[in-house]
Amino acid sequence: MVLVTNKVGVIGWPVTHSISPAMHNAAFKALGLNDWQYELAPVPPDIVGPSLRMLRDEGGFIGVNVTVPLKEKVMSFVLADDRARSVGAVNTIDFRSNVGTNTDVVGLIDDLQAHHITLAGAKVIVLGAGGAARAAVYGLAKAGAQVIVVNRTQQKAQVMLADLTMSAGIRSADVKTLDEAAEENASLIVNCTSVGLWPKVDESPWIEGVPFPKGVTVYDTVYRPERTLLMQQVEAHGGQAIGGLGMLVRQGAAAFKIWTHQDPPVEVMFEAAKAALVLK
Ligand code: ATR
Repeated sequence: MVLVTNKVGVIGWPVTHSISPAMHNAAFKALGLNDWQYELAPVPPDIVGPSLRMLRDEGGFIGVNVTVPLKEKVMSFVLADDRARSVGAVNTIDFRSNVGTNTDVVGLIDDLQAHHITLAGAKVIVLGAGGAARAAVYGLAKAGAQVIVVNRTQQKAQVMLADLTMSAGIRSADVKTLDEAAEENASLIVNCTSVGLWPKVDESPWIEGVPFPKGVTVYDTVYRPERTLLMQQVEAHGGQAIGGLGMLVRQGAAAFKIWTHQDPPVEVMFEAAKAALVLK
């Protein structure tokens, strides 16, 4: 029996549905990192500070991922890097340095690049104005895209862009209505709303009857179900669709590299995540 000397995991409340343990533990195994283990660590929002200290000082944790609803809360307990501060959320912590970063941004941009999607100079519609949208707008704008944000509550989108201009100097983004955005010659639509997420699989953030931009690709950050209604809609109109599992895998891969300093086996992680998703 090999002793687990390097623990990592995910904190959140709840964390029971996470597929990250399956993904990371498969990666450790593939690289022969037998003394590494990824665990679920449920942490209630009112005891985030003491819990982080306990995981680090007594739990033997090297670092953690952070999920809902703690991504903003942990910021006051770590040294948030520029990206995490700009996005306003930390999803990965390295306890050895106490640095918190945001690999959700990396996950999205890496997965778009893996699908050979050009971002520099491209027009991209982002649906949503919550935490996921903020990370997406930041990453897309930094990659040189012109971003159009559409959100049910338009004022929230305006506040988000004002914040991103202040925190990261982002100016290449506007807020529009869905009808206005649909008229733009966008090459990519990124869904950052939770609309279409299981079990409400018959909902879509794209209102039926609004035409899709010609030849557009939809990237749906929703990965449960694997094929959302939005993805089906755009394919029915001659566009392309990509589900968000790759983003989840690649944000995990980026965290894996931070903790282990090894190149992550992305394919192994993808297969493990996919298998775990079917089981959940
Ligand atoms: P996350 O941090 O995962 O992005 P969030 O902050 O709750 O989650 O944001 C959810 C996003 O989905 C928001 O943009 C929300 O729109 P509002 O700002 O108008 O609330 C969007 N959303 C959720 N349910 C929706 C629905 N039924 N129709 C349209 N947009 C919806």
